[in-house]
Amino acid sequence: MHKILVTGGLGFIGSHTVVELQNEGFEVVIIDDLSNSTLDVLDKITAITNVKPSFFKIDLKDKTAVTNFFNENTIDGVIHFAASKAVGESVEKPLRYYENNIGSLIYLLQQMNAKNVNNFIFSSSCTVYGQADELPITENAPIKPAESPYGNTKQIGEEIIKDTTKISELKAIALRYFNPIGAHESAKIGELPIGVPQNLIPFVTQTAAGLRNELSVFGSDYPTPDGTAIRDYIHVVDLAKAHIIAMQRLLKNNQKKSFEVFNIGTGKGNSVLEVIQSFEKVTGQKLNYKFTDRREGDITAAYADTTIANNELGWKAKLTLEDALLSAWKWQKTL
Ligand code: UD1
Repeated sequence: MHKILVTGGLGFIGSHTVVELQNEGFEVVIIDDLSNSTLDVLDKITAITNVKPSFFKIDLKDKTAVTNFFNENTIDGVIHFAASKAVGESVEKPLRYYENNIGSLIYLLQQMNAKNVNNFIFSSSCTVYGQADELPITENAPIKPAESPYGNTKQIGEEIIKDTTKISELKAIALRYFNPIGAHESAKIGELPIGVPQNLIPFVTQTAAGLRNELSVFGSDYPTPDGTAIRDYIHVVDLAKAHIIAMQRLLKNNQKKSFEVFNIGTGKGNSVLEVIQSFEKVTGQKLNYKFTDRREGDITAAYADTTIANNELGWKAKLTLEDALLSAWKWQKTL
C-alpha cells in the first residue's frame, strides 16, 4: 500500500482528494495548519470512507517541524495543496503570500530530496495563463505576467519544481485547475469560505440560503454572448480524481518528462448568467442578483483544452455544471 502525504488535506480540494485516495486504497497522511480549515473535516472524511487518515497539525513554514515529520514518516508521494489562495488578500499582503506559498514549497522539496521521496503533485492554476490569446487554452499557451502575488506564487512554484526535477530524482506533475466548485455527494464535505465569499459559487449558495441579500454580477459588458464573464467550472470530485490518476502515473513511472503539466477543467465555458440560470433550474431557488461594475483583475473568458489530460493522463471530467451546483446547494443546506 502506498503512503501519500496530502498537505492542506483538510481544505476544500484536499479533503475531497483524501476521500478519493482512501477509496482507491492509498494510505493517507494529512498535514494541515488549520488556517483555513477545521478539524471536524477529519471526522467527515472518516465517516465517508470508514478510514481515519493520520493527521499532523504542522505549519509548513516551520522548517524544523517539516524536517521532523520526514524523519519520522516514510512517504511514497506528496500531493501539495497547502497554500493561501485569496487573490485580493495577496495584493495587500504579498510577503505573507510569498512566505507561505513559496517558503513551504521549498522546505517540502528539500525534505523530499533528503529522504528520496520523488513523487510530487502540485496544485497549480489556470491563473498562470492570464487572459489567453486563444480559447480553449492549451498547456502550451504562454504564461502571462501574473496579475497578483497569489498568481505569481503558482508561476514561481512551477518553476521551482521544474528546476528541482532537473537536478534530482524528483518527478512532478503540476495540475492547472480551472474553477473548482461543488461538494461531495454525501454533503459531508465542501467549500467553507471564511467571511464574505470571494468566489462565485459560495456567494450564489449563500445568497439562495438567505445569508446574503443579493449577488453582484461583476460586469455585464464583457465581449461575450450575454455580456458576463466566462469560466470553466470543474466539479471538485472530478478534480480530486485527477490527482489519483496523476499519482498513479508517477508511481508507475509512466511520465514522458520528469515535470509535466496538465489542464484540469471540463473544456466547457459558462458565463456568470448561465451559472445563475442553471442554479435556479436545478435547485428551484430564485436568486436575487444585480449587475455591477467589473471586478478589477478579472479576465473575460477562460476555459480549458483538455485534450492532453484526456489522452495522455487518461482523465476526463464526468460530472456536469448541474451536478456541481446541486451538490454545492446540498452542502450549503447542511451548514
Ligand atoms: C479566482 C482566481 C483563481 C483562483 C480561484 C479560486 C484569478 C484570475 N482567478 O478565479 O486563480 O484559483 O479564484 O480561488 O485570480 N463573480 C461574480 N460575482 C461574485 C463573484 C464572482 O460575478 O460575487 C464572477 C467573476 O467576475 C468571474 C466568475 O464569477 O467572472 C468566477 O469568479 P471566481 O469564482 O471568483 O473565480 P475566478 O476569479 O475565475
